[in-house]
Amino acid sequence: MERVYIETYGCQMNFADSEVVGAILRDAGHSLAGCVEEADFVLINTCAIRDNAEQRVRHRVRELRARQGRNKRLRIGILGCMAERLQSRLMTEEDNVSFVCGPDAYRRLPQLMAQVREGQRGSEVELSTTETYADIEPVRLASNGISAYISIMRGCQNYCSYCVVPYTRGRERSRDPQTIVAEAKGLFDNGYREVTLLGQNVNSYRYDAVGFPELMAMVAEVSPLMRVRFATSHPKDLSDELLEVMARYPNICRCIHLPVQSGSNRMLKLMNRKYTVEWYLDRMASIRRHMPDCSITTDVIAGFCGETLEDHEATLELFRKVRYDYAYMFKYSQREGTYAAKHMPDDIDEAEKTRRLNEIIALQGQIALENNRTEVGREYEVLVEGESHRSKEQLFGRNSQNKVLVFDRKDAVPGTYRKVKVTDCTAATLIGELID
Ligand code: SAH
Ligand code: SF4
Ligand code: F3S
Repeated sequence: MERVYIETYGCQMNFADSEVVGAILRDAGHSLAGCVEEADFVLINTCAIRDNAEQRVRHRVRELRARQGRNKRLRIGILGCMAERLQSRLMTEEDNVSFVCGPDAYRRLPQLMAQVREGQRGSEVELSTTETYADIEPVRLASNGISAYISIMRGCQNYCSYCVVPYTRGRERSRDPQTIVAEAKGLFDNGYREVTLLGQNVNSYRYDAVGFPELMAMVAEVSPLMRVRFATSHPKDLSDELLEVMARYPNICRCIHLPVQSGSNRMLKLMNRKYTVEWYLDRMASIRRHMPDCSITTDVIAGFCGETLEDHEATLELFRKVRYDYAYMFKYSQREGTYAAKHMPDDIDEAEKTRRLNEIIALQGQIALENNRTEVGREYEVLVEGESHRSKEQLFGRNSQNKVLVFDRKDAVPGTYRKVKVTDCTAATLIGELID
C-alpha cells in the first residue's frame, strides 16, 4: 500500500476535495503521509483559475523531479482543475507526471494508482452530473479541530465570460441536505465549533424542496454553539429570504462574501455577470437593513477585456461607496476555452493591468484600516482558534464578522467563545483584550 502526500492549491473547494480524496485513499488501505519525504505518491490538487496559479504548479512538478531522481519509487499524480483543463496534454508536457484525475473522478484514484504501479500512466477526467461525494466522510487534513469545510454543491454553470470553472468543474449539482446536516452534527459532536458551507454559487443550492435558506436554517439548528459560514454567493441570486434566515439565527455569521468583479455596468455585461451596479448596491442595502453589523467582502478583476479608464474609475468609486472589509483583487488572466478568450481581445497591457490593480489595492488597504479604526472600543464574542503567530503569550480568534482578533492569552483556550474588547488595530488585524 502506498504512502500518499496530498498538496493543495486553489480555493476552499479544492481544500475540501482533498479531504474527500484523503478519505477515499484511506478507505482503500493507503496511509496519508505528513510530508513529501515520507511519501511514495504525491498528489497535487491544482487550480486553473489564473495563469499564475498554473505556473506555480508547473514549477512544483519540476521541483519534484529532482526528488524523484533520489527516490525512484516516488510518483506524482495531478488532481483538480488543471487536470481537468489540460487532461493528458499535461502528462505530455510534464513527463514525470504519472496520472491526471479530474474533480469528479476521485473514486477511481485507487485504481489509477494501482495501474501506475504496474507501469501504466492514466487519465480519468470524465465530469459527472450527479457526483457529490455525499456518502464520504472527509479526513480533516488541514483542520485545527475547531473549524471545518462542508461541501454542499459542485460545479457551476454561470459561464462568466472570463472564468474557467464551468469547464473544470462541470454542471451544477447539490448534495442531499440530510448528509450535510449529519456531517455538521458529527463535527459538532467531535468538538468543532464552526462549519463553512461551500459551493461556487451557494445561493442556487437546491435539493428537492430544500433551497439554500432552508439548508442554512437546518445547519444552524444543529447547535446554537456552532457557527455557520458560507461561500460563495453570486450577487444575482442573493435573496432577501436568505438574509431573513441569517438575521434569525445569531450563530449564522455576520459576514457575506459577494464578489462584484467590476464597478462598471458595461464591464459587468461583457463579463456575463447578469446584474448591474444598481442591483448590487440594492443587495448591499438589503444586507445592511437585515444585519447592520454584517461585514462584506468581495472579489474584483482589474484590466478585463476592453476596460477603459472610465470603467476602472467606476470600480474605484464602487469600492469607496461599499467600503469592503476585505477584498481579493486580481489582474485579468485570459483562460483558453472561455467565451472571453474566444471572442474578446485581451487588450489591456500587463503594465497597465498592474497599475490599475495596485490602485485598487492601495484604496482597499486604506478603507480596511479606516474600517478597523472604527472597531476600537467595540466588544465581540470571539471563537478562540489558536496561538498567535507573533507571540506564544497571545491567542487569536475571529468574531462573527470573520475579522481576526489577537489578545493576551490569560486563561483562554482554543475552541471556546470569549468576549474581547478591541483596543487597537492594523489594516488586517484587530488587537484586543479579554473582558470576561
Ligand atoms: N464562484 C465564485 C468565485 C470563483 S473564482 C464567484 O463567482 O464569485 C474566484 C475569483 O477569481 C472570482 O471571483 C474572480 O474574481 C477571479 N477570477 C476568475 N477568473 C479569473 C480570470 N480569468 N482572471 C482573473 N481573475 C479571475
Ligand atoms: Fe466562475 Fe462565474 Fe461560476 Fe464564479 S459564478 S465560478 S466566476 S463562472
Ligand atoms: Fe481554482 Fe478550480 Fe477553485 S480553478 S479557484 S481550484 S474551482
